[in-house]
Amino acid sequence: MLDRIFLIGFMGCGKSTIGKKLQEEIGLDFADTDSYIEEEEGMSIADIFKEKGEIYFRNLETLALGNIKPEIVSTGGGIIERSENIEIMRKRGSIVFLYTDFSEISRRLEGDQSRPLWQQDMDSKKVLFDHRALKYKAAADYIIDTNNKKVLDITAELKAIIHKHKE
Ligand code: S3P
Repeated sequence: MLDRIFLIGFMGCGKSTIGKKLQEEIGLDFADTDSYIEEEEGMSIADIFKEKGEIYFRNLETLALGNIKPEIVSTGGGIIERSENIEIMRKRGSIVFLYTDFSEISRRLEGDQSRPLWQQDMDSKKVLFDHRALKYKAAADYIIDTNNKKVLDITAELKAIIHKHKE
């Protein structure tokens, strides 16, 4: 049986886009922890942060990771902030880090208001990015550099990883 793949990486690196595309291409089931939480709670992530707080959201995120069934799972950018989450992902599958430069992330998320942790000054966001980059790298079984690549190139790399994994 194919191992589950968890996609990790900073906000805006394309985890959900790549996961969905892969689902289209090879028909594996796909889920996104943020969408799973939004459905369970009947609220947007921004509203959960605002009304219930980040710790409440992080607890839901850990629960989602343990329960989610599909073979391809995209995760929220903060998933690596809890070592418990990394252990859950390791037990349940393999971890693929989608690396995107900060400048490209900033370009993509310009004007974004849906991500509570993107609503801070640029210096703080860069500090968060650098701090997390180390954690994504440490957690990852595989790293895909997504800079200057098209979605199809990235899914091709992911398919090669999945293929290797099946051997
Ligand atoms: C977060 C990233 C978001 C979402 C929440 C918190 C983070 O997901 O889980 O806003 O801590 O980086 P994306 O990485 O899909 O934007």
